[in-house]
Amino acid sequence: MRYRHAKLPNTSPDFEYDDFNPPETLWWKEALAGLQAKPKAVPPKFFYDQHGSRLFERITQLPEYYLTRAEIGLLKRHASDIARVLGPDCELLEFGCGNSQKVFYLLAELRCAAYVAVDICKEHLWSLCGRVAAAYPGLPVHALRADFSRPLDFPPSLRDRGRRVVFFPGSSIGNFDPEEAVRFLIQARRTAGPQGRLLIGVDLKKDRALLEAAYDDAAGVTASFNKNLLWRLNRECGADFDLNRFRHRAFYNEAQGRIEMHLESLCRQEVSVPRETSIHLFSGETIHTENSYKYEIAEFQALAARAGWRAEGVWCDERDLFSVQLFG
Ligand code: AVJ
Repeated sequence: MRYRHAKLPNTSPDFEYDDFNPPETLWWKEALAGLQAKPKAVPPKFFYDQHGSRLFERITQLPEYYLTRAEIGLLKRHASDIARVLGPDCELLEFGCGNSQKVFYLLAELRCAAYVAVDICKEHLWSLCGRVAAAYPGLPVHALRADFSRPLDFPPSLRDRGRRVVFFPGSSIGNFDPEEAVRFLIQARRTAGPQGRLLIGVDLKKDRALLEAAYDDAAGVTASFNKNLLWRLNRECGADFDLNRFRHRAFYNEAQGRIEMHLESLCRQEVSVPRETSIHLFSGETIHTENSYKYEIAEFQALAARAGWRAEGVWCDERDLFSVQLFG
């Protein structure tokens, strides 16, 4: 599907902004379809309203959530190495940039020809691109509001300079199941072009206790993050979920190699949603809200190879918690 390409009046002189206007007004239609399915499942992209994004930011600072710290450590320590392999004049394209610091570690070492941030959230794009443009005067900075999981339709002003690097940090690839991940990686290859590269953060398989603690923290922030989905359905489509009748669950499914997050119904209950049939849950039934796949390095390289990517580099911390991988 192609989005209407709305070029907004650019109020900031520092970066270009293009809005592909991803349809999100009926987001809860998709969520409700998932609640009527068997088993019940709602995609994790619906976590991230303003409140959810703030909760996620708190997750990244939790002692148990090693992912962000480990990845930033790798980017800090190895940015010059990464820059050496990438060479000068690449055009850096960050997928799902949020409002994260991560790209600054790369920009410090890379001699970039341009930076393109892609995200669904305008506020994040605005804030991040403003900061990048301020820190790197003269660097062309382009914000694209789009759903990067779909084919990207570049605005004509963004010509392919031939050295695109898709930067996809945070192990967000883990939200896709392996088949979807391959499709996404094929898509990223198309976006990156024939000379393109992919720099991607991938969380690694490890001890179950470490994994499970990262997704079920002592302070209960991840539980709130998970439950925010129900709260959002209450606020935005008038559902009447009682959050006290649900429990956050996170466990490592070793056979599938993934953390699963669920919301478990604590009793038999019926939830009503205006103009929709009501939703029945039995006691112990769960709504599956997220998968977060974990990979061995070779396992991920094999997956990427199915999308035509050749491994060019891997950086890991000394405890093998996390990896940053480069493909060309
Ligand atoms: C943003 C998808 C990488 O899977 O670790 C964090 C989301 N969910 N805690 C992850 C998340 C619960 C996160 N990703």
